[in-house]
Amino acid sequence: MERRLIETADGSKTLFIPEMNEQYHSVNGALTESNYVFLQQGYLAHPARSLTVFEVGFGTGLNALVTALEANKLKKRTRFVSIEKYPVTPGEISELNYGSLFSEEASQLFLQMHNAEWNQEVEISEYFSLQKINGDLTKYDFDEALKIDVVYFDAFGPEKQPDMWQNDIFLKIYNACRHDALFVTYSAKGEIRRNLAACGFEMARLPGPPGKRQMLRGVKK
Ligand SMILES: C[S@@+](CC[C@H](N)C(=O)[O-])C[C@H]1O[C@@H](n2cnc3c(N)ncnc32)[C@H](O)[C@@H]1O
Repeated sequence: MERRLIETADGSKTLFIPEMNEQYHSVNGALTESNYVFLQQGYLAHPARSLTVFEVGFGTGLNALVTALEANKLKKRTRFVSIEKYPVTPGEISELNYGSLFSEEASQLFLQMHNAEWNQEVEISEYFSLQKINGDLTKYDFDEALKIDVVYFDAFGPEKQPDMWQNDIFLKIYNACRHDALFVTYSAKGEIRRNLAACGFEMARLPGPPGKRQMLRGVKK
């Protein structure tokens, strides 16, 4: 499937798939969305000093990068596990401008994350480890040892890829979560909120990032 690089409203780049008419992050600001939906409402909203994040769709690595930078800053021990079926290519990685949006530290982390071996846990910094799983979420069975504290549900939209937003997947994720785990997604669809609630998450609608009225957050109680 063809992927094109596009620039979003805050100057950060992302990938666009013409065939699906879908992009990896919001055209209203890739970095802004990543910082707000996943970092602020997910990672930073969880009080634990040490935690495990599970991401759906590693993609460009932007969500992982902003999380690693925050983990290093706050000295918050973070295990980041991310599943990806269609890894981006080295050519695409070199065209993304995330490292240069921050600092030399970010550029280094970004490359380390993309160079990290798949399917094994790699120490990226003193506070951040990364395990990229090259797999298909719709067929994935969670390791019983994985105890998730924060879920970044960053699949393509439910209209574009409905098989990723099914209850059996939500339930598998719910069961892999610890008590008080947070589930965040940029989608605010009523059907998704109800399905997540049916799995057991206590759901709330939060204000959305620029260009979106709302987003969803669930808590496992
Ligand atoms: C919205 S993008 C994610 C963006 C990513 N979080 C980032 O920071 O760039 C959705 C991602 O889900 C991946 N994906 C699509 N189908 C998948 C599947 N069945 N299993 C795992 N990942 C999948 C896509 O390749 C894409 O990278």
